[in-house]
Amino acid sequence: MTLDSHSPLDGKRLLLIIGGGIAAYKCLDLIRRVKERGMTVRVILTKGGEQFVTPLSVSSLSGEKTYTDLFSLTDEVEMGHIRLSREADLILVAPATADMMAKMVSGIADNLATTALLATDKPVMIAPSMNSQMWHHAATQRNFAQLQKDSILVIPPSSGDLACGEVGEGRLAEVEDMVAALESFFTPTGPLVGKHVIITAGPTYEAIDPVRYIANRSSGKQGYAIARALRDFGARVSLVSGPTSLSAPRGMAVINIESASEMLAACQNALPADIAICVAAVADWRVASEATQKIKKQDGELPPLQLKENPDILESLARTTDNRPSLVIGFAAETENVSANAKAKLARKGCDWIVANDVSTIDGQSVMGGDHNRVSLITATDTENWDNAHKHEVAERLARKIENHFK
Ligand code: C5P
Repeated sequence: MTLDSHSPLDGKRLLLIIGGGIAAYKCLDLIRRVKERGMTVRVILTKGGEQFVTPLSVSSLSGEKTYTDLFSLTDEVEMGHIRLSREADLILVAPATADMMAKMVSGIADNLATTALLATDKPVMIAPSMNSQMWHHAATQRNFAQLQKDSILVIPPSSGDLACGEVGEGRLAEVEDMVAALESFFTPTGPLVGKHVIITAGPTYEAIDPVRYIANRSSGKQGYAIARALRDFGARVSLVSGPTSLSAPRGMAVINIESASEMLAACQNALPADIAICVAAVADWRVASEATQKIKKQDGELPPLQLKENPDILESLARTTDNRPSLVIGFAAETENVSANAKAKLARKGCDWIVANDVSTIDGQSVMGGDHNRVSLITATDTENWDNAHKHEVAERLARKIENHFK
């Protein structure tokens, strides 16, 4: 039970690196506060940090194993530093000592914490804390400036009484300020905040038997690019994906499915939504009765496979009577009469817009699986040709169109 299930921290994962400073004790309270808001917290405790708080107190509050240098060797088997650093949405270093900042600037990786910081592909935030003279030292200020240039986010230190008895700047930010900084980091911004979008992407696999299936060449690249663009516009995204080799985009719900029937169920489950975009290359047919055992090789010809029509997910979302997303967009992959065929599809399936893509080759490169796409956006009243564009560009333009539609 969380304090506020609508906190932007709900469901987010924090990797907290507790450095060696007297203010490390504040991190114990920080763990409690963010956990109350639905966040999961994993902690790396540096050798210095262990002088101020114990792994036991940290684990008692985080409810997770605490990673220290002492155990890092055995942990590598269970949870390597790479995974540890990547299975988080954000890494926070608090207190960030002068030494830690210097190591981060230089890319030194001489312990578990610094190695994780070098190996991560996730955003990193620091909350510096140290004696005022150390904070104002030219070396620290140089390092601080460099870290900001390296896109490290900052929770600035405050002024006041310091543990060493001096007064000045260098106190670790208060827990409530650190919580506020985390909340602000995770608060979506953008023109589509408050909108929920369901996107289907990739191919579907229709099983013949436990080892064989019918599939197609869709890579999922265009659907994933649209999901990312809409996430960046602030929308809450549910990406219903068939099997692809792409990594799951951050900051959205990714629902992995295989067959068209599973895709339809996942979409219906994700309703209500404001927008539905069906980019998936759904198999039109499935095997009427999937064999429960592997079909044995036989002499001569394989008996014909009986096929059954799959549900049309786009049509089903567009024609749903209750909970219909107010904007339903389909894709139409065509190799000839692109515009005419797409317009007919728009009417037949009852969707609002259709993105017609010409899947004949571009400069000898196949659109299916490639990085470029040649599309036209067709609405009831208008057709816009976007020519040959990178799939990211197509995604961005579609996101802008959606933004204007809801303005
Ligand atoms: O009829 P066609 O397959 O060309 O239609 C393409 C559009 O319909 C795409 O948006 C695709 O995602 C969607 N579709 C679907 N379910 C199907 C077949 C197509 O959602 N079974």
